[in-house]
Amino acid sequence: MLILGIESSCDETGVALYDTEAGGKLVSHALHSQVALHAEYGGVVPELASRDHIRRTAPLLRKVLADSGCALSSVKAIAYTQGPGLAGALLVGAAFAEGLASSLGIPTVPVHHLEGHLLSPLLSRRPPTFPFIALLVSGGHSQLMRVSGVGQYELLGETLDDAAGEAFDKTAKLLGLPYPGGPALAELAEKGRPETVTLPRPMLNSGDLNFSFSGLKTAVLTAVRELGELEDQQRADIARGFQEAIVDVLVKKSMRAMKETGLKQLVVAGGVGANRELRRQLDARAAKVRVSVFYPELEFCTDNGAMIALAGALRFQAGLSIKTAGAFAVRPRWPLTELNGRG
Ligand code: KG4
Ligand code: ZN
Repeated sequence: MLILGIESSCDETGVALYDTEAGGKLVSHALHSQVALHAEYGGVVPELASRDHIRRTAPLLRKVLADSGCALSSVKAIAYTQGPGLAGALLVGAAFAEGLASSLGIPTVPVHHLEGHLLSPLLSRRPPTFPFIALLVSGGHSQLMRVSGVGQYELLGETLDDAAGEAFDKTAKLLGLPYPGGPALAELAEKGRPETVTLPRPMLNSGDLNFSFSGLKTAVLTAVRELGELEDQQRADIARGFQEAIVDVLVKKSMRAMKETGLKQLVVAGGVGANRELRRQLDARAAKVRVSVFYPELEFCTDNGAMIALAGALRFQAGLSIKTAGAFAVRPRWPLTELNGRG
């Protein structure tokens, strides 16, 4: 059974087709990133994002259909990101999906964006099995969750202020790096000297599984002010120090979650999961305690349509969230744990 997935929550338009037959497989997917569009503003401009989603969605749909050789009439349900995200951007994907599904006489499956991220490692060749712990680190969220099945999420800990991706982005801005800051900062950190700039590890020993990253950004600001005019090597050293601190906290808290729950599979999802140093450190620590770490393919770490098609397909198969196409509402703010036990 073919499920179409549409993602439009922020600055990426993603469309994908997922086939539930024979254990399930991604048939085709296409993505348009708005990075170039927002670059000159130093961040995402919501109205421009919405308008661009309007321009991109139909051509991307035509592309995934052409690439797969599938006819639109063979699609059995349309999944789309209902939230959280930018209201206008969400409205574009939702209206497109609901209108198209109406015209085809098929149901829709509204999907939670973070559920898409959480389940995205299931798209890889070596998928995890339920239950597992998920470290969800995106631009808007930093959470540790226990995932027992589709729609069964227990929040173990989360950030009390900035998300990990947000901290990367804000720190990148402080260092004068272009948007999108996270990948640029990570790249600069690779050129920094290890342990040259030591920054605080917020809440490392708080005894729980929560995070706090806003103080880290302030520490970078202080370091930048103290040094005055920065040389290239100094900027790289600060970037490295920042990355070391944030990775250290994420790794130690993740390992703590593994120890407390006794589970042996850790899934890393969300844009910051693309960070190479995070992957290196997690792999090294996990190997020592016999924990397996699962990452989505790099292209599915950041926002994409494939994870929405997958989450939609799994929900559809489980008989969850299926609705008659037509009237709809988006949910720009929507805690993931509200999904628990809801049909
Ligand atoms: O999951 P995502 O694509 O969008 C949200 O749902 O938020 O995550 C985007 C975030 C941004 O903050 C971006 O700077 C960060 O992920 N990011 C990275 C890297 N690639 C993306 N942060 C650190 N290192 C990276 N390589
Ligand atoms: Zn995302």
